[in-house]
Formats: sequence, structure tokens, C-alpha cells
Amino acid sequence: MTALRFVPAAAAEAALDAGARDLDASLAGAESLEAGRLVRLATAGGRHLGLAVADPENGRLRVMATADEAFEELGPGFARARLATAAALRRVLGLAGPGAAYRLFHGAGDGLPGLAADALGEHLVIHVYSAALLPLARTLAEAALEHGFAGAILKHRARGAAARGEVAQEAVGKAAPERLVVHERGVSFETHPRGGLNVGLFTDMREHRHGLARFAAGARVLNGFAYTGTLSVVCARAGAASVTSVDLSAGVLRWARDNFARSGLDPADARWRFEAADCARFLQQARERGERFDLVLLDPPTFSAARDAAFSIERDYPALIARACAVLERGALLWLAANTRAVGLEGLAVKGTALARREVAVLEQGGLPPDHPTLPAQPADRYLQTLLLRVD
Ligand SMILES: C[S@@+](CC[C@H](N)C(=O)[O-])C[C@H]1O[C@@H](n2cnc3c(N)ncnc32)[C@H](O)[C@@H]1O
Repeated sequence: MTALRFVPAAAAEAALDAGARDLDASLAGAESLEAGRLVRLATAGGRHLGLAVADPENGRLRVMATADEAFEELGPGFARARLATAAALRRVLGLAGPGAAYRLFHGAGDGLPGLAADALGEHLVIHVYSAALLPLARTLAEAALEHGFAGAILKHRARGAAARGEVAQEAVGKAAPERLVVHERGVSFETHPRGGLNVGLFTDMREHRHGLARFAAGARVLNGFAYTGTLSVVCARAGAASVTSVDLSAGVLRWARDNFARSGLDPADARWRFEAADCARFLQQARERGERFDLVLLDPPTFSAARDAAFSIERDYPALIARACAVLERGALLWLAANTRAVGLEGLAVKGTALARREVAVLEQGGLPPDHPTLPAQPADRYLQTLLLRVD
């Protein structure tokens, strides 16, 4: 497709100069551009600024290449170059390898705004955040096959549809198996590459997962939003006295049991409990039963409309934190995560621990790992926040 010359409004040009790559389409005056239209950004004086794809679905102009780069189009040459640079970083980080799970490219931080991909062994799961970016995603998938991947699955997350669990999928190259075991720092986890949006392993949690092992030896651990139990498995392997995995979904807890078994941990062992329950209710009942823990992990969804367990991080996290404090021994640890920048995790923690009338100290604060690069000019992209508190 030949690129259309487009002169963005001054505010968008300034944002681009400041390093942004996801330009606000209305700020740029680009709302009427057709989805997927390739545009050659230029100043009124004719100076080339870069190449962008119109993404009206998200109100964005996705800047894929800047004036410093010699790309005329977003074809195979562009895809190979982006993949080569992204793969080189992951090699330096020691992440690539047979059966390894890691993020191969991550949006604007890897020069591919609106696109991200997780490597699951020889398969790639490419997250495409707009129909406008599907042609480029296919080109990237082809380049990934040349690079040595056996196959790629494109998961198109239309705005709003992903929240409803609707994800359109398309395979390029060899079809991925239903179940695929991957490895992370010597630990095996089962993934479902062809499952819905989430495959069973969050690559953005890797450093936290393994970092928590430092605090788990001998501890009674409660993982409140356990999902497939990957944090639980690492704590159990690190010598936790017990690990209780709570999740609303009985299905993901079966998966968590399988992940325990893969690590040689018998899921029938009384030390490893799996409770299908609402976390807030579980905490309340655990307090009433007099149960106490040394390490509690909370990684709730930002928003959930689950029946009888609706959750909004801004509204409900402080009360949940207070309930967790009620089952923590003095001096025990509370690890909190939030998957959004829209709220400040520290502020929520202050509110929650004040409700519980507990004194706390911050032991560690964290965010995204280095295979999830982001741009300084796009702080909202750094969505992950974590806090490790000592609760006195
Ligand atoms: C963001 S995932 C947790 C990811 C997990 N920490 C990990 O790194 O693998 C959120 C999980 O919370 C579960 N969930 C949602 N609402 C819940 C609730 N009220 N109580 C317990 N679990 C809940 C969902 O089923 C989902 O598995």
C-alpha cells in the first residue's frame, strides 16, 4: 500500500518529538483516516517525520518508524529489522532458549505500538490491539518463521471485546498444540497457546514470581488470585511450609494442580491447598477460623463483573488489603500487584493498612521486567505496579 502524505497538527508533532509513538488521532487531526491506512508523516514544510498506521478503533495514529529510519513501507524488511533488534535484547537478557517463555516484543518500546508477542517455546502468540494492525502482524509472523519460530497465533483483541472474552485467532505456520509446556528459570508451566486471551502464564510477572522465592522458605503462603498457580508453585518449590491457592475459577485451579505436579509437588499433599472461592470471602472466613499466614499475595483484576464478587481496584482494593492484614502475623509480608497505572498502588495500600490499623514498611517496589520495554513519553504503558510490605 502506498503511503498517504499526512501533516499532523502541531500538538501531535510535538508529542512525536518528545518521543511518543502512540499519537492521539484527534490531537493529530487524523480521526477521518481509514483504519489501517499507512501514512507518511511530514511537516507543513515537507520534512519527513515518520511512518504511521491509522488506528481509529483506538483513536490512535501508531507511529511505526521515525525519520531516522530508512523505511519506505512496513513490509518484510521492516518486520525483520524490528524482530532482529527485539530478539537481540532477549538474548542479552538470557531469556531465549529451547522451550523458553518470554516477551519477544512489547509495543511502542520495541518500535511496534499496538502489537506485542510472547514466545512459548517454538510458538509465538502475537497480541494485536486493533484490526488496523492485522496486516502488519501477519508480516511480523512471517518474519518470525524465518527467524526460527515454527508458528504464530495472532490474537486480535478488539477494543472492549477482550474484556468480554472475545478474541479472534488466526494461525500462521505450524499450528500450536492445545497444551504446551514451557520453562522459566528451570520451572515448567503448562500453557494453552490456543486458549482465550490468556495462555496460563503472564510473562510480565516472571521477575516477581521468582523474586518471591526469597521470602517463601518456611512460610505459610496464601495466593489470593492464584490463576494457574505459577506464583504458588515457585513459593512451594522454595520450601514454603504451606501454600493456599485461592481463585474464583475451579478450572484454573485444576490447571494450578497440574503445574504443582509438573514440579514434582503432589497436589494431594495437605500442604498445598486449592480453594475455589472469592478471595475477600475466603479471607474473612480464614480470619474467623483463626488461620494466619506469613506471606499473602494479592494480584486482583483491575475490574471484574463476576457474579457475587464484582471488583473494582479503586473502590475495593483497600478493603481487601485490610482483610489480608487481618490474617497476617505481626512482621509478616504482604505482596500487592496492580495491572494499571490509573490508580496509585501505594495510595491504595496506605488506605487499606490504615483501615486495618497496621503499621507497614515498604520492602520492595516493582514494575515491568526488561523484556517489556516502554517509552518514557508513554508512562501509562508501564501498567504493572507491585509493592512488598512488611506488616507490623
Ligand atoms: C490477574 S489474574 C492473576 C494472575 C496471577 N497472579 C499470575 O501471575 O499468574 C486474576 C485471577 O483472579 C481471579 N479472580 C477474579 N476475581 C476473583 C475473586 N473475587 N476472588 C478470587 N479470584 C478472583 C481470576 O479468575 C484470575 O484467575
